[in-house]
Amino acid sequence: MTRQFFVGGNFKLNPTTLQAGTALVSGLNSADLDPSTEVVIAPPTIYLLSVKDSISNNVKIAAQNCYFKESGAFTGEISPKQLVDAGIPYVILGHSERRTIFHEDSALVATKTRAAIDAGLKVILCIGETLEQREAGKTAEVCEAQLKAVVDVTKDVDWSKVVIAYEPVWAIGTGKVATSAQAQQAHADVRAYLSKAVSADVAAKVQILYGGSVTAANCKELARQPDVDGFLVGGASLKPEFADIINARK
Ligand code: G3P
Repeated sequence: MTRQFFVGGNFKLNPTTLQAGTALVSGLNSADLDPSTEVVIAPPTIYLLSVKDSISNNVKIAAQNCYFKESGAFTGEISPKQLVDAGIPYVILGHSERRTIFHEDSALVATKTRAAIDAGLKVILCIGETLEQREAGKTAEVCEAQLKAVVDVTKDVDWSKVVIAYEPVWAIGTGKVATSAQAQQAHADVRAYLSKAVSADVAAKVQILYGGSVTAANCKELARQPDVDGFLVGGASLKPEFADIINARK
């Protein structure tokens, strides 16, 4: 089963000026990107529309989060319907920073995922364990529990709208990238779980990205792993080396 290589750039709370954001976009627009790689960048919400209108090179746009309600008294939130109306096709949900800093649990992530799919969005669904959980041998168990919450509110057909990002919390922003063996094992375990919990067809087709200190230096070895279908990149997505990561399979 060949799955399209997919690279996401999660800008997080960066950059802090529209001018810097415009510079990032023009860098990507002028880069020589592998046309067989699907590229999605997630700028801060305030820049979504300006980036959408200025990006080319077949790069798509994602929001970094959304709520599950369509409208109403939910100060500070954005809705899936608003994203679709604005022409934003993707949303990242369940990022570990949403789970730890903003106390989002898997039930809320699942509710948001359901609402995003219902509105017509594609979801980059983040899962991953802490260092303590990995050292306790609980990586697969933790990822399965995070995925089960979404499995419980979706049907097989919904999974064509979901890209999974396995992001070990201990590798995010630390420079401590997972080894290729660690990434491959975690991805294979996720695919095996989905084969049991959903279907063999969904498990074979779903793209599973690795995220956590990916750089131009380590991406090629990771990209050679059979169950690594791409990356969700944080810090390096703000640098020129992001193009090298997009071209990791070139
Ligand atoms: O969503 C991707 C992000 O969590 C990874 O961050 O800076 O380790 O690439 P970074």
